Amino acid sequence: MAAIELTDLTKHYQQGKNVVRALDGVTLSIQSGEFVAVVGRSGSGKTTMLDLLGLLLRPTSGRILIDGVDTGTLGDGERATMRGERIGFIFQEFNLLPTLNAVENVMLPLRYRRRKDPDGRARALRLLEDVDLADRVEHRPAELSGGQAQRVAIARSLINNPALVLGDEPTGEVDSETSMQLLDLMRRMNTERGVTFVIVTHDLEVANRADRIIRLKDGRVASDEPIVASGGSRAGV
Ligand SMILES: Nc1ncnc2c1ncn2[C@@H]1O[C@H](COP(=O)(O)OP(=O)(O)OP(=O)(O)O)[C@@H](O)[C@H]1O
Ligand SMILES: [Mg+2]
Repeated sequence: MAAIELTDLTKHYQQGKNVVRALDGVTLSIQSGEFVAVVGRSGSGKTTMLDLLGLLLRPTSGRILIDGVDTGTLGDGERATMRGERIGFIFQEFNLLPTLNAVENVMLPLRYRRRKDPDGRARALRLLEDVDLADRVEHRPAELSGGQAQRVAIARSLINNPALVLGDEPTGEVDSETSMQLLDLMRRMNTERGVTFVIVTHDLEVANRADRIIRLKDGRVASDEPIVASGGSRAGV
């Protein structure tokens, strides 16, 4: 079963007399464990698609199945639960909180869970170790480098053991070497934990190391192609 199935998905905004077709009929499916890059020019609908996938927005029409569940039939509470339990976010709008240190930031999504989670802190510390920040646990965001802060954000996206992580430019705002390190890290989480990743990127070097590139144009899928691994450790994928 596909992890995600989008059927004729649209998101239209009424702007005065005009309709903005932010997403305009997207049909595609993403398999569990895939690492997908979404590319396209500014305004092509990338963030809109991620917001819909993350159940942060409701579509104008069309269907979003996540793990076989038709999310359109869910109420707001059920959508929030699904979001909290199954989806991790690396979004600029959900930046690290400046007053919290690294481990507190990683634990932030736990606050929105209904059930108490006594293992939360231990899990957060392990995740910080996984992203090679065991020695920066008590640092606040201003006391971290840009790449380190992004690694905290990646760790945070995984705190609830999600099946799916959505990233809107998760490697933006760092130099290209750091961006490759962040990509390697997400790739490791993808292969070791089987987490499905869908990330928006403007960086073709990043996109080319995904399993698949979906290119949006004017709210539609302009192309959707697998990346053929060119030797190295990914040969045969
Ligand atoms: N709330 C809204 N109301 C009206 N129009 C909107 C709204 N949100 C997005 N849009 C429009 O929908 C289109 C798609 O926006 P979206 O944010 O998905 O683009 P994007 O591909 O993420 O661009 P960027 O690369 O600049 O982040 C844009 O033309 C935008 O102006
Ligand atoms: Mg965007």
